[in-house]
Amino acid sequence: MKLMLSIVFSLLYSSVFSQSNSFIPGKKWEDIDGVAINAHGGGITFVNGVYYWYGEHKTSGRRGNTSLEGVSCYSSKDLYHWKNEGIVLQVENDSSSEITKGCIIERPKVAFNQKTNKYVMWFHLELKGQGYDAAKVAVAVSDSPIGPFKLVQSFRPNKGVWPMDFEDKNKKSFVGENNLRSWTDEWLLAIKNGMLVRRDFHKGQMARDMTLYVDDDSKAYLVFASEENLTLHISELTDDYLNFTERWIRVAAAGHNEAPTVFKKEGIYYMITSGCTGWDPNAARSFKSKSIWGPWESLGNPCLGKDAELTFHSQSTYVLTLKGNKDQFVFMADRWNPKNPIEGTYVWLPIQFENEKPILKWFDKWNLDFLLNK
Ligand code: GAL
Repeated sequence: MKLMLSIVFSLLYSSVFSQSNSFIPGKKWEDIDGVAINAHGGGITFVNGVYYWYGEHKTSGRRGNTSLEGVSCYSSKDLYHWKNEGIVLQVENDSSSEITKGCIIERPKVAFNQKTNKYVMWFHLELKGQGYDAAKVAVAVSDSPIGPFKLVQSFRPNKGVWPMDFEDKNKKSFVGENNLRSWTDEWLLAIKNGMLVRRDFHKGQMARDMTLYVDDDSKAYLVFASEENLTLHISELTDDYLNFTERWIRVAAAGHNEAPTVFKKEGIYYMITSGCTGWDPNAARSFKSKSIWGPWESLGNPCLGKDAELTFHSQSTYVLTLKGNKDQFVFMADRWNPKNPIEGTYVWLPIQFENEKPILKWFDKWNLDFLLNK
């Protein structure tokens, strides 16, 4: 009996212990109070030994993908145990505010700015009642990683500014371009040659799914799905991270990428993105480049094995860099649940490399030793 009890006890202990010190992709993940973590489309910022996970606070039911609360934040020292720090950017009750309750706030990412000592949050903003038509990004700041963040302004980026490498011949529209049938070869060529950049030149470029990337030299870049989600834009931010400089490029024109993530390994920049099928998963894509300004070379789907063509039923949101003698990387993705958004889960997987190509393989359960012992 005593032996039995001790076996049961040790089994229970090991299951609880190992669960709390491992990642179990796709399964419900509770914070230290036992409540499911609510930080979707998120990203992580590491400051003074603490990881801060920012994400979309979703609610139940039909309106659960609109922003009824704001952006949530969790903190952790080990990436397994997370403390809820509450809503750090609150939606507002004032109906004239751009972030009024019921707007859409997606994919928030935060960077600490060493020059100003401020925490700067960028996010995709859609105005209340306008679906996804506004296609804006917005910036908010805070003195503390756990808020409160205050909205500074929203943008259609790069109003009146051509991309850095844009050919003069593409600055003028051609007769009949607006009447091209979508998805024909002529239309795709026109998109590649900047038809939508021209269309939005005076209004500012569209910006939907986005990420924020801070390089080793502290320069920050906003990377976003633009041109009706057909082309990614990479746009340099000013030194305070609050605005755009006039330096920007287009990546994978007409390639239909969204959910961008950027990271850098041994001097090479990588990007993992998704295709565009709304909340439904699709095959991820990957790219590499020697410079943030390209040229970005396509490396294909980084996922291998069962469900690789559906990114293991998830969509990228961020790549976390674990700094060390040799940096290691964690791929973070969302398994959306559009019927009940609050029940969406998280898929975190280690990034492996084969011949300068990032590789993602499924793990039912894993922990950081897998990366740190590499
Ligand atoms: C996805 C996008 C999400 C959200 C959704 C809305 O493609 O990645 O962030 O915008 O569409 O349908």
